[in-house]
Amino acid sequence: MKIIHSFFIVFFVMGASFIQARPSVSIQNVAARQCFSLDGKWNYIIDPYETGYYDYRYKPYDEQVNPGNGAFYLDKKPANKSDLIEYSFDKSPTLWVPGDWNSQDEKLLYYEGTIWYRRIFDYQKKSSDDRVLVYFGAANYESDVYLNGKKLGKHIGGFTPFCYEITDLLRETGNSLVVKVDNKRKREAVPTLNTDWWNYGGITRDVSLIEVPHTYISDYLIHLQNKSDNVISGYIQLNEDVASQQVTVSIPELKLMTTLLTDSHGKACFNLKATHLERWSPEDPKLYQVEVSLGENKVIDQIGFRTIETKGTDILLNGKSVFLRGISIHAENPQRGGRAYSDADVRELLDAAKALNCNFVRLAHYPHSENMIRLADKMGILVWEEDPVYWTIQWENPDTYANAQQQLTDVIERDKNRACVIIWSMANETPVSDARTLFLKKLAQQARSLDNSRLISAALEVHGNPVDPNERIVEDPFADVVDVVSFNEYVGWYDGLPEKCDKIHWSISYNKPVLISEFGGGALQGLHGDAQTRWTEEYQEDIYARTVKMLSKIPQFRGTSPWILFDFRSPKRVLPGIQDGWNRKGLISENGVKKKAFYVLRDFYNQMEAKFAQPVKH
Ligand code: GCU
Repeated sequence: MKIIHSFFIVFFVMGASFIQARPSVSIQNVAARQCFSLDGKWNYIIDPYETGYYDYRYKPYDEQVNPGNGAFYLDKKPANKSDLIEYSFDKSPTLWVPGDWNSQDEKLLYYEGTIWYRRIFDYQKKSSDDRVLVYFGAANYESDVYLNGKKLGKHIGGFTPFCYEITDLLRETGNSLVVKVDNKRKREAVPTLNTDWWNYGGITRDVSLIEVPHTYISDYLIHLQNKSDNVISGYIQLNEDVASQQVTVSIPELKLMTTLLTDSHGKACFNLKATHLERWSPEDPKLYQVEVSLGENKVIDQIGFRTIETKGTDILLNGKSVFLRGISIHAENPQRGGRAYSDADVRELLDAAKALNCNFVRLAHYPHSENMIRLADKMGILVWEEDPVYWTIQWENPDTYANAQQQLTDVIERDKNRACVIIWSMANETPVSDARTLFLKKLAQQARSLDNSRLISAALEVHGNPVDPNERIVEDPFADVVDVVSFNEYVGWYDGLPEKCDKIHWSISYNKPVLISEFGGGALQGLHGDAQTRWTEEYQEDIYARTVKMLSKIPQFRGTSPWILFDFRSPKRVLPGIQDGWNRKGLISENGVKKKAFYVLRDFYNQMEAKFAQPVKH
């Protein structure tokens, strides 16, 4: 039995890799499409032993030709009283979608493995010629999607959308959508095994059916060219390589409209000269209604127009030097202790950043949900988005690079029309080596080829000087590639005590803007004592007060995003009575109570706002 068993497992692994799944389709601005939500309660089966994939006892594994009755994706019911089916979605419990499983059930808090989700739905197409897609905002980490027993595809990456056409498989009633989600951490993954955040698994963002015409507008880019005088340019892309289709771009408030014909790739490019254009900015986050049409099919978006560039050590927003008054944020609802996804979740996070008088947020360490970016657009908060290339990635594994590149590509494609996004970050705290720097350079090349209108950065490496214990040197081969030199520093927490900030001097030889992407220290909210006592609010407060003074001596200092807005869950933080599974570097506790350091940073930002004040145009 043992030999046979292992044979089937080998056969299964080989078989699965050759099954042709369908490609993921891209679709820009899902919220503006004809959507049917599949959010709600989905039945689920916990499957730590991967039992649900195949039926090794009766038949050789072959997913599409003769799957065993045991394969969960078939969603089988017993045909008669003698039938052997050892699972039942109908009789299984339910999980809310969207939502990580860890925060929905105590039993699942630390669970890392596979869970199979199943949703039954009916769907009548509005028009027989239309196509129907199924869209996932994100699922962490590896997803296999099936409809009515047929494989749609596999998606790798826990924070970016994926979408499949299902027109050919769709029934009017009783559709069975099964999703296998596996959040096991892997050495070759992106991120890799070790991170300082909770490994929330599950279908963590919205799921929708989208009905579109047979030929539809799948993508578009509409933005203000940098170094241009109010020229709005971009392209419209159809889902098919079909030429001579008439498409229209209009911005009614600017009295701009143009009609174009697609080329043989189904693409049409345009330039529009705008007069009286109100630029988007934190002080005035002006969004224009933009309408792109193909015949009767119109897609409406809200788009802001601004320029972002660097000039020497300045970051220029609409040609004027800006200081990034930031804060780092994890995508977590602190009170629920679960992945953030809802409008209420993102509103809570960004309102708290606004209370700090931020004009900038660093969305660590992975792409956050689209509604977070769209809300930042509306609120006038500049955004740093990050590829989850975190710590000790497997730099020499080509599959790992392909994975990192795909996740970066997906987030750029999704958010390229959002004025608030100004920085694409390639990585966080990655130990310098030739392989690592080559990996990051290729990523930066990919980012610039997709979008040369935004700034490239990463949290770079810093080192000390054995001769001068008070010198900190920012020296990283990747600094030659980035537009903004960013780094994390923890003088006063991991590196000495707070008063050490007063002695430190920084050597940064790049003629580029400098952004300190992390600093800070831990404090248990409500624990008070003197500033020498670790974990008190006074200790954290002292780090902030001394750090802002220390950093202000750096001539290229143009912004910071201290670590971090809220306390957040991490399995690495195990100090009883203080951490208990939470990283305590938040300026606000998970119960929403501000710590003393919050006010130090807010006062500093009030000063910097006055120093860099831009007159608001009326
Ligand atoms: C690092 C890392 C963070 C981590 C933080 C900490 O700088 O970028 O993800 O949470 O330090 O140690 O708290």
